[in-house]
Amino acid sequence: MEASAKKTTIWTRFDNRHSPLLLKIDDSSPGAVLFRMNTFNPSTLSKNPLTLTTAIFLSCATLLPIPAFAAGVEGGYGKTPNATEGTVSSWPTGKKLIALTYDDGPNTKVTQPLMDLLESEGVPATFYLLGQTAKANPKLTAEIQRRGFEVGNHSWSHPQLTKLGVDGIKSQLQRANDAMTAPRPVTTMRPPYGAHNATVRRVCSDMGFSVILWDVDTNDWRKGTTAEKIVKTVLEEAKDGSIILMHDRLPTTVPATRQIIAELKKRGYTFVTVSQLLAQPRLSAKKP
Ligand code: NI
Repeated sequence: MEASAKKTTIWTRFDNRHSPLLLKIDDSSPGAVLFRMNTFNPSTLSKNPLTLTTAIFLSCATLLPIPAFAAGVEGGYGKTPNATEGTVSSWPTGKKLIALTYDDGPNTKVTQPLMDLLESEGVPATFYLLGQTAKANPKLTAEIQRRGFEVGNHSWSHPQLTKLGVDGIKSQLQRANDAMTAPRPVTTMRPPYGAHNATVRRVCSDMGFSVILWDVDTNDWRKGTTAEKIVKTVLEEAKDGSIILMHDRLPTTVPATRQIIAELKKRGYTFVTVSQLLAQPRLSAKKP
């Protein structure tokens, strides 16, 4: 990457799938932001810069009815504040929040109908993309982010990172990040096969990634696993702060997700992205 005198522009957004509010903060006009509702199209940015205070006021007024915000969830992008060391398998908050995560995409058959379902249900989710797959499907990759889902890093080509040295790990994560072209930072990564060691964790921490595992493994990729089996696993194991592992490349993904959403909503859960989950204060472990 070349160093240049380009001015710094920071994009940030409030994480909401129906009315994403995007703020463009430009250092050439301190204190000023440009904002846009509903669409991720830079050409439709508000022509007159607002003050940051006005933008935040508007965003609060607009976003209050959103379930994620009603549950007190805010933020979501930028470096995850609470968990850059070690790994995260679940994140209990006491607020019945759950994160659905989908690995190995984007997939040309499954990702689109899955996004349609999630959007129609008002359910945020996190997609752990493979860099080489993202690069081969740039439109789909951009759409995931445009529609307000979180994108996480699942490496470039799905190697077992524990078999690589520092440079190999960095290269895998950097190439993958470069393929995810949105102006938002990618702040979480899921190691292929869940394989990590001290080197992987340190490189991730240095690069600003939280290492995200899961506490509910649907084993959806195993041959013969039906949508019913996936749903059963989730309903038996999901609890406050759960991170559910699925893959958006299987015929079972959409039907299973539909049932999972319906049932967990009935049980009073709110779905959030992984970053939204980590932005919440974590309940401390009970002392024995
Ligand atoms: Ni994977």
